[in-house]
Amino acid sequence: MRILVTGKNGQLGRSIQKTVNTDTKIGNNQSPNDFIFVGREDIDLSSESSISNYFGNNDKFDLIINCAAFTQVDKAEQEAELANQINHLAVKQLASIASNQHARLIHISTDYVFDGESDKPYIETDTTNPINVYGRTKLSGEKALQKVMPLNAIIIRTSWVYSEYGNNFVSTMLRLGREQDELSVVNDQMGSPTYATDLAGVILEIIRHKKFRDIDQTTQIYNYSNEGEISWHEFAKEIFKLVEIDYKVSPITAQQYPTPAKRPRNTFMNRDKIVKVFNIKISNWKSSLNTCMTILKKQQ
Ligand SMILES: NC(=O)c1ccc[n+]([C@@H]2O[C@H](COP(=O)([O-])OP(=O)(O)OC[C@H]3O[C@@H](n4cnc5c(N)ncnc54)[C@H](OP(=O)(O)O)[C@@H]3O)[C@@H](O)[C@H]2O)c1
Repeated sequence: MRILVTGKNGQLGRSIQKTVNTDTKIGNNQSPNDFIFVGREDIDLSSESSISNYFGNNDKFDLIINCAAFTQVDKAEQEAELANQINHLAVKQLASIASNQHARLIHISTDYVFDGESDKPYIETDTTNPINVYGRTKLSGEKALQKVMPLNAIIIRTSWVYSEYGNNFVSTMLRLGREQDELSVVNDQMGSPTYATDLAGVILEIIRHKKFRDIDQTTQIYNYSNEGEISWHEFAKEIFKLVEIDYKVSPITAQQYPTPAKRPRNTFMNRDKIVKVFNIKISNWKSSLNTCMTILKKQQ
């Protein structure tokens, strides 16, 4: 299998690289050498010609895993066109290339396709209604992909991704903890954190699964996050608990912390479908956070 992974310097791209190189089960169906990781220096997703040149100059792939995206939610409000190019038009182009190459496509999307107004966990077929530019561009990407590739693709909607790499909520909290005496964190937005290494493992499990290997299956959406529904405030408190810092983290409302992009109030997603279809085990958010923090502590 030739597997192309975009976004090699992002949280998920790096976590897939780490997992591919350490996962002993990888030998069942493929080897680490099957994976080709590319960053924006190889394919610039904001440029149609960069995308077509890359695929024109390389052998065909069997699978494309698209981890790259315009992920800066607030910045997207100002840079809507660029966000749309990367999160929507580039996804459409990748789907069209995958289809022409008879390759499969695994694409990552977001809980921000929902407006967050439901009091029940979102299932994959629930009505979408994004409330910010990032969410709208990601939803357009999903829809374009489904239209161009009605078969042989998977969309995984995930939420609140963090890792030991790059900028994310965990690294931001740890930085602010060093810079400030106390912190106020929003407690009326609920969701589920996702440790990027867990998501990377799930993607590799899916690839190994016989269900994924059946050809010409209808393109599907799956929700995936770690287990548990919390607020950002609870997430922050647990981070400081794990680094054993007695730090004052006060709860505030989203209204008290205005941001350029509106955030959905509750994006808790039901994960039954992915569990059932691919026999996935989902870790609890606290144990996954603990794993990440242990790695971060070792790096210090
Ligand atoms: N982070 C979250 O909380 C979250 C939540 C829900 C869903 N998701 C989705 O999960 C996926 C993975 O997210 P992540 O957290 O791993 O994101 P990330 O750490 O921000 O990584 C995104 C990657 O996309 C690359 N990229 C951006 N613009 C590009 C361009 N024009 N051409 C090529 N590459 C470009 C970036 O490259 P550079 O490194 O060069 O900038 C970066 O490596 C994305 O689809 C995201 O929408 C993320």
